[in-house]
Amino acid sequence: METIVYQLDALNPDQACLDQAAALLKEGQVVAFPTETVYGLGAVATNAEAVAKIFQAKGRPADNPLIVHIAQIQELEEIAYADQRAYQVAEAFWPGPLTLILPKKDVIPEAVTAGLSTVAVRMPAHPIAQALIKATGAPIAAPSANISGKPSPTQAQHVLDDLAGKIPLLLDGGTVEIGLESTVLDLCSVIPQILRPGKITAQELTPLLGRVLQAPSQAPLQPSCPGMKYAHYAPQGQIILSQTGQLSQAWQKYRQENPCVICWEESSQLLPEEANLIILGHRGDYTAYAKNLFTALRLCDTCQASYIIIEEVAEEGLGVAIMNRLRKATR
Ligand code: TXA
Ligand code: MG
Repeated sequence: METIVYQLDALNPDQACLDQAAALLKEGQVVAFPTETVYGLGAVATNAEAVAKIFQAKGRPADNPLIVHIAQIQELEEIAYADQRAYQVAEAFWPGPLTLILPKKDVIPEAVTAGLSTVAVRMPAHPIAQALIKATGAPIAAPSANISGKPSPTQAQHVLDDLAGKIPLLLDGGTVEIGLESTVLDLCSVIPQILRPGKITAQELTPLLGRVLQAPSQAPLQPSCPGMKYAHYAPQGQIILSQTGQLSQAWQKYRQENPCVICWEESSQLLPEEANLIILGHRGDYTAYAKNLFTALRLCDTCQASYIIIEEVAEEGLGVAIMNRLRKATR
């Protein structure tokens, strides 16, 4: 299968291209598209056969459920049982990088939720994602548009690297804004729990919800978020996490192997000139670190780096999500 790519203006996407993408979705095909977090691989969420094509293209285990994307808050009641808490949070953070876990309604097939009685729902902010859902006139199930286990795609080229020839269409909206997947918030438990940290933090949710629990970064034996048990975001090389002060020592230890080093701009001075550096931004610019991290991990694969030394960040704000992805990548 040839993968067609339409380059779209993210702020003013061409309607004819969107209509063609929507037509494919309505026919039961899959389409890759940008969201503000990462690129997604979508299918109409109420069509189990179409949803099966997502799992096939990604090589995704069938027991890992998908997020259903909607364009307006009113559409929430069509697919899930949402209580007042859910609407409060949705009103505050949608459209945006927050996914809510809620009891599912029957229109959502088990293929989407991997047999769970709950469904993950998100209303993305990206204009192309919004316009695509509207043009399709149906909720769209979409995981990240990568081969299962690889870092999530933050650019159209990442999607092509993984899925060219396996999907009919990719909407290229340029590099995404955030670069890490959405915060997943479980609203089915008595005390809301963040199952996957993202740009929306526990501190931001607490004023609305009271106490918010944070799932441990190490996977439990019976994870409440099925995705937690899978190695994710992993490049081929072995990742070594290092504090700023230890970067030079870590590089010395692996120097024979010509490791890649992913770090802040300021830390480059701690390393010899011959080191292979991938700079993510200026120290403390977590937005840049998050946005560039998955591109950096993919670059390490391109360079066939056997070892990848990565500078740790403080676990505050977006740093919680960054360290969560880094720890998952080290497994
Ligand atoms: O930012 C994002 O969330 C992106 C864009 C495309 O929206 N999507 C994304 O999807 O990251 P995916 O499939 O790569 O990650 C979804 C995560 C997985 O860890 C999955 O296990 C979890 O959400 N999940 C989905 N449905 C769930 C449910 N009913 N209960 C608990 N966890 C669920
Ligand atoms: Mg994913």
